[in-house]
Amino acid sequence: MARRQLVAKKYDGSGLGRATIQGILELAQTRPAVAADLPRLAELVLATWRRAYAGVVPPKFLADLDVRRIKERWEHHLLVNEFSIVATVQRDVVGVCSGGAIREAVGVQTTCGEFYSINIDPRYWRRGLGALLLSNGITSLQALGYRDAALWTMADNRRAKSFYASQGWFRDGGERTTSSLTGSPIHEIRLRRSLLKQRTDSA
Ligand SMILES: CC(C)(COP(=O)(O)OP(=O)(O)OC[C@H]1O[C@@H](n2cnc3c(N)ncnc32)[C@H](O)[C@@H]1OP(=O)(O)O)[C@@H](O)C(=O)NCCC(=O)NCCS
Repeated sequence: MARRQLVAKKYDGSGLGRATIQGILELAQTRPAVAADLPRLAELVLATWRRAYAGVVPPKFLADLDVRRIKERWEHHLLVNEFSIVATVQRDVVGVCSGGAIREAVGVQTTCGEFYSINIDPRYWRRGLGALLLSNGITSLQALGYRDAALWTMADNRRAKSFYASQGWFRDGGERTTSSLTGSPIHEIRLRRSLLKQRTDSA
């Protein structure tokens, strides 16, 4: 997958200056995830979830997360999901996103694809890598013929909600409460965005 370069990002108070932030994006590459990525992917997802979901999901669920089970789950994802893409910085896998066909088509047309997950290593948050992976995922969904995209996010996941809003996603009214992930009820909202390319010419 082609190397992407995004514009320099603002200084974000992280202690890294503009040049360093821009440097990470310039080093970042994306490519389809492969089986050899699985050990690193599992560690990354575990670290990301423990950091991102503290205070959002039950602490026991986070404490019980097991790298071996996450690896098995991602082994399955790589086999069945229509796309799984990693972001790398100097060959280290620092993010992953995955998606494909809509899994729960209530109130959604079958021309709608879905983002199943996106995880960026917390050490690299706010460097533009999430936006880079999301943009690659959107390109994949477009190439697969989907006309719009949906995703579910936890209603209490404020970081993710700000991230998606900044990338043009909006609430479509879909909501659900599910215990399937953590064993405790978690409220989720559905977000959407069009995948139709904007025409820039006036013809
Ligand atoms: C959500 C997530 C993918 C964002 O990735 P990221 O690489 O940090 O995001 P980016 O740097 O590309 O941010 C793009 C824009 O999103 C918004 N944004 C991202 N994080 C934000 C935050 N913590 N607070 C407010 N806005 C935020 C900003 O507008 C940002 O642009 P800016 O930095 O120029 O202001 C990442 O935080 C993550 O992996 N979280 C844990 C897993 C998760 O919640 N995934 C979503 C599940 S539905």
